[in-house]
Amino acid sequence: MVKYVAEPFKIKMVEPLKMTTREEREEKLKAANYNVFGLDSDDVYIDCLTDSGTGAMSDTQWAGMMAGDESYAGARGYRKLMKAVKDIFGYEFGQPVHQGRAAEQVLLPSYLKKGQKCVSNMHFDTTRGHVGLLGAKAIDIVVPEAKDTSTYLPFKGNMDTKRLEAYINEVGADQIGVIIMTITNNSAGGQPVSMENLRTTKAIADKHGIPMIIDAARYAENAHFIREREEGYQDKEIIDIVREMFSYAEAFTMSAKKDAIVNMGGLIGVKDSEELYIKVKGLTIPYEGFVTYGGLAGRDLEALSIGLYEGLDKDYLKYRVGQIEYLGGRLKELGVPFQYPVGGHAVFLDAKALLPHIPYYQFPGQALACELYLEAGIRACDIGSYLLDLDPETGEQLESEMEFTRLAIPRRVYTQAHFDVIAEALKNIKERASEIKGYEITWQAPVLRHFTAKLKPIE
Ligand code: F0G
Repeated sequence: MVKYVAEPFKIKMVEPLKMTTREEREEKLKAANYNVFGLDSDDVYIDCLTDSGTGAMSDTQWAGMMAGDESYAGARGYRKLMKAVKDIFGYEFGQPVHQGRAAEQVLLPSYLKKGQKCVSNMHFDTTRGHVGLLGAKAIDIVVPEAKDTSTYLPFKGNMDTKRLEAYINEVGADQIGVIIMTITNNSAGGQPVSMENLRTTKAIADKHGIPMIIDAARYAENAHFIREREEGYQDKEIIDIVREMFSYAEAFTMSAKKDAIVNMGGLIGVKDSEELYIKVKGLTIPYEGFVTYGGLAGRDLEALSIGLYEGLDKDYLKYRVGQIEYLGGRLKELGVPFQYPVGGHAVFLDAKALLPHIPYYQFPGQALACELYLEAGIRACDIGSYLLDLDPETGEQLESEMEFTRLAIPRRVYTQAHFDVIAEALKNIKERASEIKGYEITWQAPVLRHFTAKLKPIE
């Protein structure tokens, strides 16, 4: 029996959920053209579409919201946030922005010129998008084990440092604008990056004179994994692990909607370069607003400063990552295939293994997402061939290496019983897996089609 780590909080406010019948869900899904992004959230029972901006704030954060100073310039919340940036990350300068992609828009022009490469363990989609908008090319050099979904390895999010060296030697260091370490590695399933890997990557970057920065969306979950899994860190405080992690970079971008547990917010950190900080301020003003609010309300700055600390609490992190591990453990008992070990924020179901009769061009990850909704009102999303657009040159459907259905878990929102509902639903789906049909697309947009495409089941 897998053990659930009990919540280190009690519940003071509740948000009622609507219960629906299978017949109602069949109607709703059809009306949404079998695209889970088209569902009204009111018709979803357990929403695992994303862990981004979907967390529950604490009473202390809500109290901070009331105390927020809404001054246009020099607000109290800004000073508090800057103090937190110095204390937690050891960085001299901070810049609030409205979310993670805004941090990318503001920071990346300082590093990338047209024609250059941007190297990462794995770029998140929006990061890849901003690299492309600057006329640069995003190159992922994750360790090959990231693609092995069944063997236990502690740090599947790592940069492949041998291939990184080889790549730098091949293209030339001056062609690489920046190295971005994404921690945890979202696109590889929320897999962590080890301290050793950060240290080695930084040494390689330094040797070749390439700057290194961090995409810090899930930095606290990463620190938790280092504490649990990497030798020498068991007795360290999470905050000290975080300080060491960030010592290997010169700047970071952060979507604060994840580990800082706010519904909206982002952050840039600059370690000590005043020159870089001046450039950051220069782009923040036209894109995001004056430097002391950066696209956020004063109350948001307060909630963010508090959330940054709450996200580092070791009992909270044990519970948080424990929830994902509990769901993974239940699925293992039931023989439902998923990427193992689970990451910090999501369970990636292996739809290819569960629905081997559905070919990639009939979207097994999407079929499983639809089935989860029909079975129990659970919303997940495809991370597989459906997520890929058509080949821009040939117009053919591309085949993804993996066919995943992602169950991303909001922070401090669901309880053990909700996870049991998810496990039970997957058990039932597994029993009738061979009857589940694939889907075809009846309409699609030319780019990022998965948000708006219309589908229908194949009879
Ligand atoms: N970097 C990483 C690693 C992310 O996971 C995300 C967002 C971003 C940057 C962009 O941040 O959404 O605040 O602009 N990930 C969300 C997800 C959307 O569902 O994984 P944002």
